[in-house]
Amino acid sequence: MQGMLKEGSLNDKTIIVTGGGTGLGKGMGGYLSELGCNLVIASRRMEILEATAAEISSKSGNEVLPISCDIRKYDEIESVIRSAEEKFGKVDAVLNNAAGNFISPTERLSHRAFDVVVDIVLKGTYNFILAAGKNWIDKKQAGTFLNIVTTYAFTGSGYVVPSAAAKAGILAMTRSLAVEWAKYKIRSNAIAPGPFPTEGAWSRLLPGDLAEKFDPAKRIPLGRVGEHQELANLAAYLLSDYSAYINGEVVTIDGGEWLRGAGEFNDFEQIPDNLWDAYEQMRKGK
Ligand code: HXC
Ligand code: NAP
Repeated sequence: MQGMLKEGSLNDKTIIVTGGGTGLGKGMGGYLSELGCNLVIASRRMEILEATAAEISSKSGNEVLPISCDIRKYDEIESVIRSAEEKFGKVDAVLNNAAGNFISPTERLSHRAFDVVVDIVLKGTYNFILAAGKNWIDKKQAGTFLNIVTTYAFTGSGYVVPSAAAKAGILAMTRSLAVEWAKYKIRSNAIAPGPFPTEGAWSRLLPGDLAEKFDPAKRIPLGRVGEHQELANLAAYLLSDYSAYINGEVVTIDGGEWLRGAGEFNDFEQIPDNLWDAYEQMRKGK
């Protein structure tokens, strides 16, 4: 559970992390800052961003700029990019991590409920990609996008349908722009995390005793949920120049969870050894 990259791996880079004040964004941002980058964290609640920026900066010794921004609003994103450039000279990468989600049978959702999730997740992400991409192209500057999706971006999932639809859209954008914008030296990759406990996700997706009843660790072949540093290591690598030839990839980090649900005979794990013995005897005609 330690940092993986060499000290100074992100020196001289400026990285914007959306939703960087809490949860996984805070964890990834903290590690990026430790690796030497100028970190910009952007989300709606300034008090939380300021507290996180102070915490990260005091640990890493590097500057962290908190900027309040609702990623549904294009002009606010342009203003984040401008402020980051004024402070640090340039922007090198955007980690699109901000999201909104809740759990509900789809037929209970109003169209406004659908909107609220899709607007944050898909619209917020394409807003940031468009604003940062145009800026890099205008300035003939290279750039890197790293987009946080989830494994149900490719499997789909009941009860989180707006989120699944939005994350699938982000994945399609990641792969599309990896090709279209490669000529501008802009790389696009994604990470699909399985369950990593955070207050934001757990309180909304596993409220009350659901966390106990549907304990994700029980569904994961490796028998545990993810550690934030494990995700931070992967994110730092994909944002660094060490991954310069990786473009258009989605890396799953879920302990084998989604494949466990997909494999036809994976539930046979529940069959005890004595039943396998009996089956073998039958097969041998005894
Ligand atoms: C059904 C709901 C609802 C719910 C809100 N609505 N919550 N419908 N079930 N649980 C409906 C409302 O009734 C309303 O529709 C519409 O949605 C908008 O409601 P608001 O009150 O404006 O929304 P609000 O509850 O204030 O905000 C929702 C939110 C908020 C924007 C999603 O929770 C938020 O800011 N979240 C950000 C953080 C977050 O969600 N983090 C988790 C990411 S986890 P009507 O018709 O009544 O007006 C994640 C994990 C993925 O993505 C994978 C895990 C393995
Ligand atoms: P979280 O702590 O709730 O993070 C969500 C962040 O998004 C918050 O910091 C929030 O800050 C920000 N945000 C929401 N709406 C915004 C808006 N309109 N404009 C700007 N920022 C906004 O949850 P998390 O678990 O760390 O999730 C982080 C990412 O990981 C998400 O993309 C999520 O889908 C993904 N993910 C999480 C898990 C998991 O198990 N935790 C698994 C798979 C994928 P404000 O409220 O201050 O705006």
